[in-house]
Amino acid sequence: MRSVARVQFEAAAADRMDTAKKGNLAMAETTSIVIFGASGDLTRRKLIPSLFSLYCKQRLPQDFRILGMARRQLDDAAFRQAVQTFAPDTLGEAAWPGFAERLFFLCGDFSQPPVMRELRRRLVELEQGRTADRLYYLAIPPQVYEPAVVGLGEAGLMQADAGWRRVVVEKPFGSSLETARALNAVLHRYLKEDQIYRIDHYLGKETVQNVLVFRFGNSIFEPIWNRNYIDHVQITVAESVGVGHRGAFYDRVGVLRDMFQNHLMQLLSLVAMEPPASFEADAIRDERVKLLSSIRPVRPEEVAAHTVRARYRGYLEEPGVAPDSQTETYAAVRLHVDNWRWHGVPFYLRSGKRLAQKSTEIVIEFRRVPHMMFPLEPGEAIRPNRLAICVQPDEGIHLRFEAKVPDTVATMRSVDMTFHYQDAFGPCAIPEAYERLLLDALHGDQSLFIRADTIERAWSLIDPILEGWQRPDAPPLATYEPGSWGPEEAEAFIGAEGRAWLRGCGAHNGA
Ligand code: BG6
Repeated sequence: MRSVARVQFEAAAADRMDTAKKGNLAMAETTSIVIFGASGDLTRRKLIPSLFSLYCKQRLPQDFRILGMARRQLDDAAFRQAVQTFAPDTLGEAAWPGFAERLFFLCGDFSQPPVMRELRRRLVELEQGRTADRLYYLAIPPQVYEPAVVGLGEAGLMQADAGWRRVVVEKPFGSSLETARALNAVLHRYLKEDQIYRIDHYLGKETVQNVLVFRFGNSIFEPIWNRNYIDHVQITVAESVGVGHRGAFYDRVGVLRDMFQNHLMQLLSLVAMEPPASFEADAIRDERVKLLSSIRPVRPEEVAAHTVRARYRGYLEEPGVAPDSQTETYAAVRLHVDNWRWHGVPFYLRSGKRLAQKSTEIVIEFRRVPHMMFPLEPGEAIRPNRLAICVQPDEGIHLRFEAKVPDTVATMRSVDMTFHYQDAFGPCAIPEAYERLLLDALHGDQSLFIRADTIERAWSLIDPILEGWQRPDAPPLATYEPGSWGPEEAEAFIGAEGRAWLRGCGAHNGA
């Protein structure tokens, strides 16, 4: 277990490097963080623990407070107690009281103007009339984003005086291109784009950010990162859990909206985008949206050839799920990127619930050697090199290549060259994604947040697939066994192109 002092020392060193790289990230003396939806799971499990960890690392401003807001009847003391459960104890219980005394609670419905006036009064009181920066975090159900934004705007709480005003919007951001545009329009009524922080927590994951460092901080991978050397790319986000208590919500959404529109599209854009000119937020975000704009949309009439959808056996019995539901809990999609770098290289994306294990990985399969000079056993195929970026759970990178088996003439076997975060950086090196995202939002760094154009572009790729699945000629929803790797239809889908689904992480010489 690391001591608080050790954590602070390491964090200070990291901050000095970050500040040097990204310029002076100054904040006002006084900062207020307002969390809407403060009695919810996200607040307890992710936001408060992340803020507490930042506090322990002395990364929060000197004078900060966190004001939670929800309809539940709580007072400050009850709120402090309710959110302590998930505070990381590795940082030491001693630090908690100092953090907890900066937590406050306001009970009320943000669609009511008197409640928002009370919020304003309470903030001024807690800030003791000083100039303050304010971060509003919408950890609330998507159907109430709009009233929350309107409530803040109409109460004058978005108006910056000498301090800034920023809004963090959780996912899902819309349920289609049309609804995402409408939500963007509401936000833009009160805020400029540089005040809006749309979350995709995958971008806060260390291993996801490492894709950029891996590609553009090394000289040996980029020259081969193209159609001349890469056969295809697979992105898998597998979950072993089912829909749990979220059945009613999930049943309206499905895996394509829940995982593809955001997380898988962002992973794809990082793997395939062109090198940004700088580490500035918009330089990176410009490349991400450019990549998404190069993806050839799957037209509704093409879904049978480009997609597979399925649900796990037993899904209909989950609480909250409609008995006649047609919602997919698994999907596989093949996409093509229409540009010089990727012409002809398929990108296979798959994600599902209740699969064999939790695993997020990006596998790059290189082309086979053009001519094999070593003898192969009868029936033995040439094994291509393979690079696997393991996002979770065993964060790291595997590179598979062929090696000569000792004491043979030229028998080859696949071996793995590996990097693991735990080995290289120690057991506590990987912070929770929300920690990075909250810190960046406080610093005004939007690199890891989704811009309006990007979110709309992602929806414009998802909408036609959803439309195609509604067509009478769409293939029926397939079924897969819980604990498997998905439906047989998905194996046939990729098998038809002479390929198979791969597991590059943890499966050393596996498929
Ligand atoms: C969320 C989805 O965005 O991501 C959930 O709504 C999913 O359905 C979760 O379980 C997965 O996140 P992670 O970080 O556990 O891979």
